[in-house]
Amino acid sequence: MDSSYLNSAAGAFLGILFVVMTLSIVSDGIYHAPVPETQGFMIEVADGTTETAQPAEEAGPAEIAPLLASADPVSGESQFKKCAACHTNDAANANKVGPGLWNIVNRPVATHEGFNYSAAMTEFSQGGTVVWDYQHLSDFIEAPKNHIPGTAMGFAGIKKVEDRADLLAYLRTLGDTPAPLPEATDASAEEAAPAEAAAPAVAAEPAAEPAATPAPTE
Ligand code: HEC
Repeated sequence: MDSSYLNSAAGAFLGILFVVMTLSIVSDGIYHAPVPETQGFMIEVADGTTETAQPAEEAGPAEIAPLLASADPVSGESQFKKCAACHTNDAANANKVGPGLWNIVNRPVATHEGFNYSAAMTEFSQGGTVVWDYQHLSDFIEAPKNHIPGTAMGFAGIKKVEDRADLLAYLRTLGDTPAPLPEATDASAEEAAPAEAAAPAVAAEPAAEPAATPAPTE
């Protein structure tokens, strides 16, 4: 009686063990997935480049010069409404909360008469040797307190580089003569070079032709 109970208990235990092992072997076969060669998914971003492609935007301030030629001063004038609460834009060049912005492009930093600049802005000017060129203006307007920590200009910034380009195209008109656009970049200079180099090759072709054709008989 006792031993038959033990026997059947042992039998039941072995039976369960067998079922569990079988299940685990079978399910291993069903669910075992090979480790993928590349982990995770590649994420395609909207512009068609992959995630790893170019963190360039993040790495440094956006270059403003290439955008200026096609920037729109009319849309820039409406951008200026964000500045007008604190800045004047006419030749009288009066100071308000901020200094007057007449002739601002290429004006030495922190040099408007009668304006009490912050210590941060004065330091940034390096004794008046730093000028408000397009790139400084763009970087400052993007995020004033990042570009010049401690500035008194209480303005969040204009994040879109195209909007800043438009605004700068407008700011350059605030002057007795519009400030010159930045000089052509190296890239466009290089573009011009191969065209020049190609010219002699084209010219040489007709010159070689008479030698190949038989001498005129007449
Ligand atoms: C809330 C007021 C306010 C707004 C809005 C504002 N500014 Fe200013 N801005 C100032 C003040 C104040 C200063 C002086 C900053 C300092 O001394 O640190 C200043 C300084 C500047 C300077 C430096 C001028 C110089 O003489 O060196 C420029 C350029 C400038 N602002 C452009 C802009 C533009 C462009 C906008 C609009 C996109 C704008 N600001 C919006 C208050 C403002």
